[in-house]
Amino acid sequence: TPTVAVIVVAAGSGTRLGHAEPKAFVLLHMRPLLDHALDSIFGMKEPVQIIVVAPVDRVADARAIAVRAAARHEAPTGFVTLVAGGRTRQDSVDQGMNALLPSVDVVLVHDAARALTPAALCDGVVAAVRATGHGVIPGLPVVDTIKRVAESGAILGTVDRSELSAVQTPQGFPRAMLEAARAWAVQNGRFEALTDDAALVADAGNPVSVIGGHPLAFKITTPEDLERADLILQAAAP
Ligand code: CTP
Ligand code: MG
Repeated sequence: TPTVAVIVVAAGSGTRLGHAEPKAFVLLHMRPLLDHALDSIFGMKEPVQIIVVAPVDRVADARAIAVRAAARHEAPTGFVTLVAGGRTRQDSVDQGMNALLPSVDVVLVHDAARALTPAALCDGVVAAVRATGHGVIPGLPVVDTIKRVAESGAILGTVDRSELSAVQTPQGFPRAMLEAARAWAVQNGRFEALTDDAALVADAGNPVSVIGGHPLAFKITTPEDLERADLILQAAAP
């Protein structure tokens, strides 16, 4: 039985992408984004519990996609769980947390929208969580010069880029740490404000460190991002 679970949050509507369908079901090279996202998880070195959090009215569709992805990877579906998501991303993570198997002691939370994430990045996060006992998130150095700008458009200052990281998912945590931090956030009225898992865990006083991310783990948010993903896949398999 798996000791690692990956919660794939796929319950968002994809407002900024602007399709009629929820984002996880939008097609990229003839396959839904969720299907691509599951390639990253089924490609991991060790067998994991996969918890897919889907829009409440699309759970059956998401299950069909997961079953198809498992078959493609010749993986069993015994450790694939489907649950309905909530109003916010954090509500969706909560629904996923409720489905963890008792054997799980490391939890990864991953955005389905990061559909091209290499499996090796997921393996790397698991290994780093095990090695440190801390929260671990992938991040990339920020390459652009970042300015602080007033509402008027006036430049207030330049941010020191050397201490910035653009963080990605999967974000990994020891299960007990993540569960305790979520409970702490709810008790202290912090749950709404802490929109990312690492912020929530760090807010409760736990160490979280950044490891090297991967350019392919970018989040598909806008139509331009989807176009970029399409071009990347075209180049990989013309
Ligand atoms: N997500 C979720 N449940 C929500 C909101 C978001 O599971 N209530 C998931 C999305 O499906 C996505 C990830 O969280 O995989 C990151 O969110 P984002 O990229 O913002 O996706 P959406 O919320 O769907 O997009 P938008 O904000 O443009 O509506
Ligand atoms: Mg969103």
